[in-house]
Amino acid sequence: MKQYNFDQVIDRKNTSSYKWDNPLYDGKTILPMPVADMEFAVADEILEALDKITQHGVLGYSIVPDSLKVLAQAKLKNDYAWETSLDWQVWLPGIVPGITLACDIFANEERGVLTPIPVYHPFHLIPTWLGRPLITFPMVEENGRWVYDFTAFEESLQRKPAVFLFCNPHNPGGTVFNQEEINRIITLCKQYDCMIISDEIHADLQIYPQSQHICIGQQIEDIPSISFFATSKAYNTAGLGGCVAIIPDKVTREAFVKKTFGYMPMLSRHSIDVMTATYQHGANWLSQLLPYLKQNHDYLMNFIHQFPGLRMLPLEATYLAWISYDETWGDLQVRLLEKGLHVLRGEQFKGKNFIRLNFACPLSQVKEACQIIASLIQ
Ligand SMILES: Cc1ncc(COP(=O)(O)O)c(C=O)c1O
Repeated sequence: MKQYNFDQVIDRKNTSSYKWDNPLYDGKTILPMPVADMEFAVADEILEALDKITQHGVLGYSIVPDSLKVLAQAKLKNDYAWETSLDWQVWLPGIVPGITLACDIFANEERGVLTPIPVYHPFHLIPTWLGRPLITFPMVEENGRWVYDFTAFEESLQRKPAVFLFCNPHNPGGTVFNQEEINRIITLCKQYDCMIISDEIHADLQIYPQSQHICIGQQIEDIPSISFFATSKAYNTAGLGGCVAIIPDKVTREAFVKKTFGYMPMLSRHSIDVMTATYQHGANWLSQLLPYLKQNHDYLMNFIHQFPGLRMLPLEATYLAWISYDETWGDLQVRLLEKGLHVLRGEQFKGKNFIRLNFACPLSQVKEACQIIASLIQ
């Protein structure tokens, strides 16, 4: 089995990298830890799949082959014990456009979109883009995890949203929702006749092995659901996109598919072949990645806890640390940027006095980030 070296620092400047070639940096040396991609080279088999396309040389339109559908189906069954039918699959170039389309179809001006906050920013922005009412409820800290305030969740459901946007594992905050929580979400959504749209892009990024990903769609019977899965996040092929929506209900699926025409480009051959190689061969790379991410997570969290006024709850999944700060730190995001570290403002996710820091990089860069944080109080 090939051993991967995640310590290797790979120069991504001048590669049209959203992270490294950010015009905001304007020639300054900045350590970028904002957007959620990783600093690591992908698995060899993924590179081989891309090489094969290059050698072949033709880049026409592509269709999703049955072989890829079967691989996605097997992954759901083997990893999450979800038996799905091939007919339920709808392949799309990205999850965010898929969620946008679903909110456009299934929410309306009277019955809007419900989401927890803080949350991955498109979740709270999409309803606004579409002119649909946005209904939010807070996540709260409980026993060292970010969880739903279920009282507030139910109160929000009483406002009759048509769609609940579920992010599991949660970004930011890293919560992997357990069976009891999933049951409560389903029961309440059913009671208030609210469809569930579930984004499970981070499902494979379980950095605490005791947490177990549960697919909510597997357990829903009486209300429609759409569950989105992708290999792009956990296997670091985000730039190529590609995802699958699992839509068990035929009427819902047909309404969704109809709306994709004219809005969604076809998937590229690169995306299709890379997803195929990932499902077939990604496991070895991922099994080495996860302990590396956990090491970075633990290093960062231990470091953060040395400083009064900074706080980070342990993540169950994802590589996106959600760090709170008190007023003694001032505007932490701006101060860090001035010192050469770019992290995202909590407000982007509707979280006040937080930063989100992406630690999916060589440990040396996590240490560098920690030194920049420490320099603020020296
Ligand atoms: C929860 C979540 N969903 C979706 C995406 C992006 O998905 P896509 O690139 O397939 O639109 C991200 C990216 O960070 C994410 O964190």
